[in-house]
Amino acid sequence: MKRNSYYWRKLHSLLGVIPLGGFILVHVSINFQAFERGPEGFATYVHFINSLPLKPLLEIVGIYLPILFHAIYGLYMAFQSNLNAGQYKYERNWAFTLQRITGVLTFIFVFWHFFNTRLQIYLGNITHEELGSTMHHIAVNPVYFILYVIGVLSAVFHFSNGLWAFLISWGVTVSPRSQKISSTICLGVFVLVSLLFILSLVAFTGDEFL
Ligand code: HEM
Repeated sequence: MKRNSYYWRKLHSLLGVIPLGGFILVHVSINFQAFERGPEGFATYVHFINSLPLKPLLEIVGIYLPILFHAIYGLYMAFQSNLNAGQYKYERNWAFTLQRITGVLTFIFVFWHFFNTRLQIYLGNITHEELGSTMHHIAVNPVYFILYVIGVLSAVFHFSNGLWAFLISWGVTVSPRSQKISSTICLGVFVLVSLLFILSLVAFTGDEFL
């Protein structure tokens, strides 16, 4: 039983980086095209991604199933370690607490965000060509804009801090010195990826996306 939970934890940790971390990096790069190249640049990348062969399979295996497993098992572990509160020193670490809070916020955000974008395509309410104007209507609403910023910061913190913990638990950063270096790199990842997401969101407020 213990050995089983060890493998489930390892799978949970791995999926957080591959493919989910990879997805965040690809996603931010496409969104940033809205800032860098405007509506045409963004549309070209959306078209490219959506014309990939086996796209539905890639989405199910590479995004939806890993998100569901990572979120459900993450909640299960958080609940379990609550029962053991006080047992681990690490428990008192603020980054560990923030990791759980941002995990829950990210899950809620992704659910809502998926509803706004991808689900509307599946339901036939919008086409891929209308994604730019869909994002425009979200970004110009001040309440939605703030909720998006909170969602983006939560997701990117959860990814960057998770990456730092992943490198320790997979034995990549063993010495205190290497952990210090990786914490600077992960902080850099957090700042850069958050900035790119927020600049994309600002770009979508432009009337050219209408
Ligand atoms: C400025 C911030 C963001 C913008 C403008 C944005 C925009 C979009 C758009 C336009 C789509 C639909 C893509 C398509 O159908 O081709 C989408 C889907 C999605 N987004 Fe975001 N997004 C943002 C942040 C995030 C963050 C932080 C996450 C967290 C991981 C996220 C997770 C997802 C997921 C899971 C999907 C569904 C993927 C799919 O079905 O292909 N997004 N987003």
